[in-house]
Amino acid sequence: MRVVITGGAGFIGSNLADRLLGEGMEVVAIDDLSNGDQRNLQGLDAELVVGSILDPALLDATVAGADCIVHFAARGSVPKSVADPVATHERNNTGTLMVLEAARRAGNLHTVVASSSSVYGAVPDLPKHEDLATRPMSPYGVSKLATEWYALAYQHSYGLPSLVFRFFNVYGPRQPAGHAYAAVIPAWIAAALAGDPVVVYGDGMQSRDFTYVDSVTAVVSEAITRRLVDPIPVNLAFGGGSTLLDLAAKLEEIVGSPIALQHAEPRKGDIRHSSADPSRLLRLFPQVAPIGLDEGLARTVAWWRRR
Ligand SMILES: NC(=O)c1ccc[n+]([C@@H]2O[C@H](COP(=O)([O-])OP(=O)(O)OC[C@H]3O[C@@H](n4cnc5c(N)ncnc54)[C@H](O)[C@@H]3O)[C@@H](O)[C@H]2O)c1
Repeated sequence: MRVVITGGAGFIGSNLADRLLGEGMEVVAIDDLSNGDQRNLQGLDAELVVGSILDPALLDATVAGADCIVHFAARGSVPKSVADPVATHERNNTGTLMVLEAARRAGNLHTVVASSSSVYGAVPDLPKHEDLATRPMSPYGVSKLATEWYALAYQHSYGLPSLVFRFFNVYGPRQPAGHAYAAVIPAWIAAALAGDPVVVYGDGMQSRDFTYVDSVTAVVSEAITRRLVDPIPVNLAFGGGSTLLDLAAKLEEIVGSPIALQHAEPRKGDIRHSSADPSRLLRLFPQVAPIGLDEGLARTVAWWRRR
């Protein structure tokens, strides 16, 4: 199988490329390197097309001969979207339409799309299941809601075989730290290994359903192989959130030295609690065996130490 991964030089995309190549598939990554890094694909036998999903001719050339598109390219991050919502809209919404149009022109390629738990936003129910309403609290959340429903509307309107996953907080090797918008786990591991304090926005009692990247790529890979299609989005997380204070305690144990917490103002658009109801995922993927937080953190810290 030949699989095109948009955003393939990014964190999750490059981990997926690694897995698919290991399973004998051909991988073509298209990435404008706005947030990705060619080094994520170093040593992998993936083809990298450097350019934007906003370029239809480049997309046509990239998807020619492909069996499947995995659409991960996006402007991630809630705070980035609060700072510049138009830039988020352009990449995430116009960009998604461009990818779906390319999939359609190529003869309705199977298309797997990344959405986000941020679509649940202000809905208070926990855990989040797919039948709940969506009330995004940030431009990023709105952009992912449109992303997922464009992909699903293409099923109804054009017969495009699509599958949407709602990722919760994914973490693991290749996720960058060292910039203002870094996700909490890499930011904290980098700080802890340098002996610096970690920044906690708010009281640290907010919780997240942290999902190790290999658990995500295992499911996506199976979805590609089985050419799975579904008319509604599927949560891709396994339930049971951890608070940020729990996370700090676990990291302290793995790193083996005390971690100082530095509290800062809560961030706009941040959700208080987020945890997935995985029932639908487990019905569709009964064989999947997720990697737990202790093991995933240990593997991620080991990767940071090797770097
Ligand atoms: N990491 C998470 O916890 C998480 C959670 C929910 C949803 N998601 C979604 O999963 C997907 C992958 O996220 P990630 O964490 O790997 O982020 P990432 O930023 O590492 O990957 C996205 C990639 O898309 C590329 N990109 C952005 N705009 C582009 C454009 N116009 N053309 C081509 N490439 C472009 C970036 O350079 C980057 O490499 C995204 O759609 C994101 O919204 C991620």
